[in-house]
Amino acid sequence: MAENIHPIFERTVQRAERETVNGHRSGVVWLTGLSGSGKSTIAAAVERELFDAGHFVVLLDGDNVRTGLCGDLGFSLEDRRENIRRIAETAKLFVAAGAQVLCSFVSPTRAIRALAQDIIGPEDFLEVFVNTPLAVCEARDVKGLYAKARAGEIKGFTGIDSPYEAPETPFLDLKTEHQTVEASAAEVVAAIKHKLSF
Ligand code: ADX
Repeated sequence: MAENIHPIFERTVQRAERETVNGHRSGVVWLTGLSGSGKSTIAAAVERELFDAGHFVVLLDGDNVRTGLCGDLGFSLEDRRENIRRIAETAKLFVAAGAQVLCSFVSPTRAIRALAQDIIGPEDFLEVFVNTPLAVCEARDVKGLYAKARAGEIKGFTGIDSPYEAPETPFLDLKTEHQTVEASAAEVVAAIKHKLSF
């Protein structure tokens, strides 16, 4: 019965009020790219820059999330989809809380990223393609995972024997190969500035 239902929506602090207090809009910057492309390093540099500028900023990162919230998931396409679904729902909660959320995940397929965009809402979803060629990621092999994948010790590794579908129309196509982390981070900050400020 309608008379017995007491929605609390009008009593909760609204997103717009939080944004006004914070002095900036909230939203999600979604970094996608191969393992070793530089996503986490660039995201951390962007986080630092925004934090130092006084923003309410949160970083959600693959290797961290997979030890907690998504610790039960592996790397089949179904598990990756569930990984991204949980992360997108988490990011959405932070957006409602007024945060600028940086998400750094391989998120390998267009369908998986479309799911994230759908959950978060297209107006709050800025896709950044950390566009580092496979050959460069593999040559760096910071975590030694490409060598293991080539040796058959890891099955279903993105870019080797599991697909990576590059975004067709990302908000930002970040070509990292010939620039420093600082330059890449500055490019991200410059691109998102007008979207995430008043
Ligand atoms: S996603 O595909 O579900 O979006 P996520 O970003 O959470 O992946 O995790 C990717 C990280 O997990 C990689 O950077 C790498 O360190 C590690 N990893 C371990 N196994 C794999 C695999 N089979 N494919 C890709 N990354 C893997």
